[in-house]
Amino acid sequence: MKAVYQTKYGKSDVLQFGDQPTPELKPHQVRVANHATSVNPRDWMIRGGRYQLQFLVPSFPLVLGSDLAGEVIEVGKSVHNFKVGDRVFGMKNPTEGLATYAEQVAVSESNIAHIPEGLSFLDAASVPLCGLTAWQALVDKAHVQTGNKVLIIGASGGVGSFAVQIAKALGAEVTAVCSGDNTKLAEALGASKTIDYQQQDVLMGSDTYDVVFDTIGRHSFAKCDKVLNAGGRYVSTIPSPKNLKAMVLTQLKVKLLRSTKTCSVVMVKSNGKDLTQLAELLASNSLSSHSLTANQSDAKPMDNNLANDRTIRPLIDSVFPLNEAAKAHDLSRSLRAKGKIILKIR
Ligand SMILES: NC(=O)c1ccc[n+]([C@@H]2O[C@H](COP(=O)([O-])OP(=O)(O)OC[C@H]3O[C@@H](n4cnc5c(N)ncnc54)[C@H](OP(=O)(O)O)[C@@H]3O)[C@@H](O)[C@H]2O)c1
Repeated sequence: MKAVYQTKYGKSDVLQFGDQPTPELKPHQVRVANHATSVNPRDWMIRGGRYQLQFLVPSFPLVLGSDLAGEVIEVGKSVHNFKVGDRVFGMKNPTEGLATYAEQVAVSESNIAHIPEGLSFLDAASVPLCGLTAWQALVDKAHVQTGNKVLIIGASGGVGSFAVQIAKALGAEVTAVCSGDNTKLAEALGASKTIDYQQQDVLMGSDTYDVVFDTIGRHSFAKCDKVLNAGGRYVSTIPSPKNLKAMVLTQLKVKLLRSTKTCSVVMVKSNGKDLTQLAELLASNSLSSHSLTANQSDAKPMDNNLANDRTIRPLIDSVFPLNEAAKAHDLSRSLRAKGKIILKIR
């Protein structure tokens, strides 16, 4: 099969496009003819040899990639919930071998879900890693409830664009932090307020929040403490020593000192059940063909009905053919993408 692989760590020019062996199928896995994958910051961190959990990464030749979207072409002996011909999407962990920048992927049935009707493979590939990160942060860690005031930092990125929509779908009132170029886009995603971090100190306003989700690791718990309401939950995607220390300390303070504010770090886990719940929101209005695209960032918020419904739509920045993965990595590395960067495989 064709795949993108590397035989050493380095810049994007270490990525090669060529033949690699098809993956072996284990009894609990399905084989997917992969139509699309997406680029995540972890991909270029792993590529460069500086992923935080590098010891979990498979050996060379290394095929990167976490997200997959395609059609089941073979099922292992102990697979129960999927059959040949099913359209599925999912996420592979480093411990499962990654390897979704490839025409075929072997993935455990517990890590995939059916793609909702009407959602394209390209849109579906944008969802798993970032959608699950946002879901697990807001549902499992922050326990967002209807009426909560939620601040999403990094609102126009891969995780942030899902987070704004998921928080909104959960009934929260969302304030989005992004650059001035992206405020209209954040409103179209469902934010009722925006903060342009280039013009305003995010934490200096008079507003306070029940939840702060920092998707890009710009503001620590210590800094956000002052804008958190009593019982407030801060969640970060970055397992920095500062965040991990604050996580332990706030848990202790909640137990011993009746403190109410908590800090947590989300470490996304591949999970077909969570993805199925997300898929219900993706499917609910069958409007996937109206996926927002980056060039709609000029749209006035009132022109876009997304802010008024509970449907989650992928925000796609751009689509590259698989053999141009290096260009896609360079774009992701720029931290300027609006939403997700997709690699089209077939
Ligand atoms: N722990 C986990 O399990 C987990 C899971 C997923 C991701 N992550 C990590 O989370 C981070 C975000 O991932 P992602 O996929 O969302 O990344 P991404 O899509 O590349 O994020 C790009 C966004 O970052 C925003 N940004 C750049 N500089 C900013 C700043 N100074 N202040 C506010 N926003 C800024 C940009 O928006 P503007 O142009 O509007 O500034 C852009 O939209 C990465 O570090 C990733 O490794 C961790």
